[in-house]
Amino acid sequence: MKNIYKPIEAILEDIIVESPTIKTFVLRPKEPFAFKTGQFIELTLPGIGEAPFTPSSSPNIKDKIEVTVMNVGRVTGLLHNIAKNVTLGIRGPYGKGYPLDRFEGKDVLIVGGGVGLAPLRSLLFSLFEQIERYNKVVLCYGARTPEDIIYKKSISDWAKKKKVNVVTTVDVGDSNWKGNVGLVTTILKDLPINLKRAVSIVCGPPIMMKFTTLKLLDLGFKPEDLYLSMEKNMSCGLGKCGHCRIGKFYACKDGPVFTYDMLKDIPDIWD
Ligand SMILES: Cc1cc2nc3c(=O)[nH]c(=O)nc-3n(C[C@H](O)[C@H](O)[C@H](O)COP(=O)(O)OP(=O)(O)OC[C@H]3O[C@@H](n4cnc5c(N)ncnc54)[C@H](O)[C@@H]3O)c2cc1C
Ligand code: FES
Repeated sequence: MKNIYKPIEAILEDIIVESPTIKTFVLRPKEPFAFKTGQFIELTLPGIGEAPFTPSSSPNIKDKIEVTVMNVGRVTGLLHNIAKNVTLGIRGPYGKGYPLDRFEGKDVLIVGGGVGLAPLRSLLFSLFEQIERYNKVVLCYGARTPEDIIYKKSISDWAKKKKVNVVTTVDVGDSNWKGNVGLVTTILKDLPINLKRAVSIVCGPPIMMKFTTLKLLDLGFKPEDLYLSMEKNMSCGLGKCGHCRIGKFYACKDGPVFTYDMLKDIPDIWD
């Protein structure tokens, strides 16, 4: 019988330093591995452990897969200290991902905080690859300081694209920073968006997700048009262990992307 927990091997082909705490790992799976934007994988460091990450690369690139990882603990710390060309494991993909067909014809507002821009980069690639399907894409991104901003070069390239607006902010600037200073919620007003045909997708730390959701509701977004990537603690990824429970849902199987409408009556969703 097939072991559903057995990862497939993937060579770590490159490591890109994005910020002092965040790196992108470029993996080449030894077997075909397809995913939909917003789905996640379990990445294994052999003999050490595994952790869930949402690929940050385009699902249309079939031979490589990128994950952008913040160093927060045991597995991610060891991953940050690994050298190129080792063999890692990946299993999945898991979850439902972003429902791109429901964004069609809409103004798509994407709000990212910190490393939360990683899953959103995969979504942005998918939107840009078929930009004619959407009315416009607006990216609002907040990082703690200028040096914590990830994908710096890509962000300035995206801002030059037709039908795309990009607004960035940092919590604390430095002597070279000429841009916005303030939490990501402070750049959400006066956006070039028609609320009658807008959807919003939010990904970031729980506290950022909470206050961004409240702000977007305040601005007039409907709960059913507000999509949240819920990064709950996960283990199996398959709806079997119960670690990722949110009310009646399992984040791994029913999510990790939910509309706020699905979650709004569940207590403590931001914990
Ligand atoms: C669906 C999903 C997608 C994710 N995508 C990304 C991504 O693209 N990039 C990224 O940097 N991180 C992502 N994460 C978070 C990442 O999985 C955790 O940071 C990682 O598991 C921490 O492992 P660790 O052993 O280094 O930390 P630990 O030593 O286990 O703990 C350190 C801290 O991380 C928190 N943590 C531990 N395990 C998890 C977990 N499974 N989920 C969330 N928080 C956890 C703990 O509460 C603790 O505060 C994602 C999580 C989920 C569930
Ligand atoms: S991670 Fe095991 S049920 Fe979701």
